[in-house]
Amino acid sequence: MTRTNDAPAGERQKINGIEQPDLLGVHERYAESHRQRFNMAGYAAPKLSTVRVGIIGLGNRGPGHLRTLVQIEGVEIRGLCDKNPDKVEAALKYVENTDHSPVLYTGGEDEWKKLCDQPDIDLVFVTTPFYLHALMSICAMKQGKHVASEVPAAATLEECWQLVQTAEETRRHLMMLENYSYMPFHLLTINMARQGFFGEVVHGDGAYNTSKMSNNFGKTVYSDMWWLRQYAGRRGNIYPTHGLGPICQIMGINRGDRLDYLVSVESNDFMMAKRAGELAETDPDFAEFVGLEYRGNINTTVIRTVQGRTIMLQHDGTTPSPHNLIHGIHGTQGAALYDPDPPRISKGDHRWVKPEEFAALEEKYTPEIYRRMGAAARSSGHGGSDMLMDWHLIDCLRNGLPLDQDVYDAAAWSSIVPLSQWSVLNRSNSIDIPDFTAGAWETNPHNMDIELANGGITTKIMPVTATPPGPDDKLARQWQRDHNGDVEKSTK
Ligand SMILES: NC(=O)c1ccc[n+]([C@@H]2O[C@H](COP(=O)([O-])OP(=O)(O)OC[C@H]3O[C@@H](n4cnc5c(N)ncnc54)[C@H](O)[C@@H]3O)[C@@H](O)[C@H]2O)c1
Repeated sequence: MTRTNDAPAGERQKINGIEQPDLLGVHERYAESHRQRFNMAGYAAPKLSTVRVGIIGLGNRGPGHLRTLVQIEGVEIRGLCDKNPDKVEAALKYVENTDHSPVLYTGGEDEWKKLCDQPDIDLVFVTTPFYLHALMSICAMKQGKHVASEVPAAATLEECWQLVQTAEETRRHLMMLENYSYMPFHLLTINMARQGFFGEVVHGDGAYNTSKMSNNFGKTVYSDMWWLRQYAGRRGNIYPTHGLGPICQIMGINRGDRLDYLVSVESNDFMMAKRAGELAETDPDFAEFVGLEYRGNINTTVIRTVQGRTIMLQHDGTTPSPHNLIHGIHGTQGAALYDPDPPRISKGDHRWVKPEEFAALEEKYTPEIYRRMGAAARSSGHGGSDMLMDWHLIDCLRNGLPLDQDVYDAAAWSSIVPLSQWSVLNRSNSIDIPDFTAGAWETNPHNMDIELANGGITTKIMPVTATPPGPDDKLARQWQRDHNGDVEKSTK
């Protein structure tokens, strides 16, 4: 294991009294024993004329996908599951007055296993709290289903490896639903990078910096207040993939380059313990959150790739600073920057281009996926990115094409969660990022067919028949507020 300074080697440290997994042991075990069984990069499963979908987890995110999926031609919703019957009941409004008649599973922690067993399901969406994703995804793949997992796809390094091994053994797709790669400006910069606009991309900056204080301390925003428990139970970047995914697509990570090692530095927590104490003074429900040490307010993780490029990733889930994804791309011939507003492009002459030239570059480099489907996607979440992602996933499955993100992407991007925690707990020492492709990254083909060279048979996007987001859809409203009409940021 590579380490760059002298902090105690292999020390396992406790968080709030709980000993953390032996990460170095997991590293060594898989490095010695893992052999690629089958290369899932570029893998195309047999065509499905209709994609029969089951969804596990119907809190905030699951119904968002459900609302999007019922609009897409060639989708049948065959199963819906949440342990909480009220969530299932509420989600049903999205299939009212449609031809979808899903089997419902609810009322127990393990009901989701029955959905995985249901024979007439091809694709399972896993939209539960992230520490359940790998468990559920692995079970679904073993039952012959493809899986679309929300972010991050795994919570531990062991789970990252298990996802890879299960996908290879079962030859089922595991796509992590990293939707930020489909935002208009992110798609634009992916295409520009592929066309060589930036020259050699040397560095990327990515972040998910947005305050979740009121959400996390809200008693009903997330089931069982699970996010607050994660902020108390983990260190490091616990939400890395929105910043990292688009940069990896730009750099061709796992296809020509790969993540090599990282260091992670974290501030103290100046806000959460204090807030827990204040709330507990008047509300006994918060007593269990008093006296805990929380994850630091701002985590900064720096990754180096084997081709010698660097990525800076940040996660700030607490301070009241403006929402910021950064998405800064720095190349030998050009640059781009999404946040702070407005998005910018540079042609490598030490200045950002003027708005007219920005518009011309945007016109030239907007990829076909956005030209063809952007308008239809706009009404969906996250600036239309949710629809573009779900639509292309369905279209690829119906055409028997490789998916935009494979299991190696899911594992590498999600592994930042446990690896950055290890670094924070070990005085910001460096730690290797495993090669989940077992060497295949050197020759793996590009994915994310944003020019729609193949496929595109799924043309119909049906109007939303269900009730639009109601007063309970707090996250959708927050996103609109934070992004201040983000779609309009680029002229698309
Ligand atoms: N990509 C994005 O933009 C985006 C946005 C929001 C959330 N997410 C991700 O989506 C996931 C879900 O987040 P959320 O905000 O919807 O959380 P949530 O708490 O609102 O919903 C999770 C749901 O899972 C259910 N659940 C928990 N355990 C279960 C079990 N054993 N069986 C069946 N159901 C179970 C809960 O009852 C709840 O309804 C998270 O991993 C989060 O990171 C991604």
